[in-house]
Amino acid sequence: MRIEVITTLPELFKPFVRMGVVGRAIQNGKLDFDIVNLRDYTHDAHRTTDDYAYGTGIGMVMKPEPIFEMFDDYLSKHSHPWVVFPSPQGKRFDQKKAIELSKREDVMFICGRYEGVDERVMTIVNEELSIGDFVLSGGETAVMIFVEAMARMIPGVVGKQESVENDSFYNGLLDYGHYTRPSEYRGMSVPEVLKSGNHAKIGKYLLKDALRRTMLKRPDLFLEHKFTVEEKAALLELFKEMHEKC
Ligand code: ADE
Repeated sequence: MRIEVITTLPELFKPFVRMGVVGRAIQNGKLDFDIVNLRDYTHDAHRTTDDYAYGTGIGMVMKPEPIFEMFDDYLSKHSHPWVVFPSPQGKRFDQKKAIELSKREDVMFICGRYEGVDERVMTIVNEELSIGDFVLSGGETAVMIFVEAMARMIPGVVGKQESVENDSFYNGLLDYGHYTRPSEYRGMSVPEVLKSGNHAKIGKYLLKDALRRTMLKRPDLFLEHKFTVEEKAALLELFKEMHEKC
């Protein structure tokens, strides 16, 4: 897939595109990632992208012209992208949205700065997305979160598909607990079943652990979850075990 980030702070993305999952996705050709400096679409010596707000005069607003010129230039070379504007007014970003966006051919993120963006820019925006109920000074850090979550979902980007499918939220549940060597550490042991080599038993244990964690840590998710037949059976066992421990 292809992603463009439109920003006045392209430098912020330099390490982001070199390292980690996103860096690997780009190097492996799974992700075509372009950072566009919005100042390249200005015409004054100061490369101005903002101006005073009409009406109040309070704060600075991003001017429409560089954004529209960038967009026209883009459309003259490529087909129409899905345009996302990061904003605290947007719908809350979640795993479902990450999966949905990762299936799109071309997603463009337009990063706002200052107090906001001239409202007319919203005519080219397909959706506004938020990372939470707080206000950032710009959309750049939110875009890094969107792209990191999306990149994991592109087939072949994360080594093993199962490791993505077991991620928290992928199937509506939190991830189970993980262990590595040593088997004993400071009096704490790795659960015996994980060392048993019995894959059926291990699978059931991990499912019960994911259900237990979701129930205790995120009861809101647990109550909304549509349980499969397998999950219901695991839940019954889990309740029995919890009852025996009481
Ligand atoms: N830009 C400013 N605040 C934001 C938020 N909470 N989420 C996404 N983009 C933003």
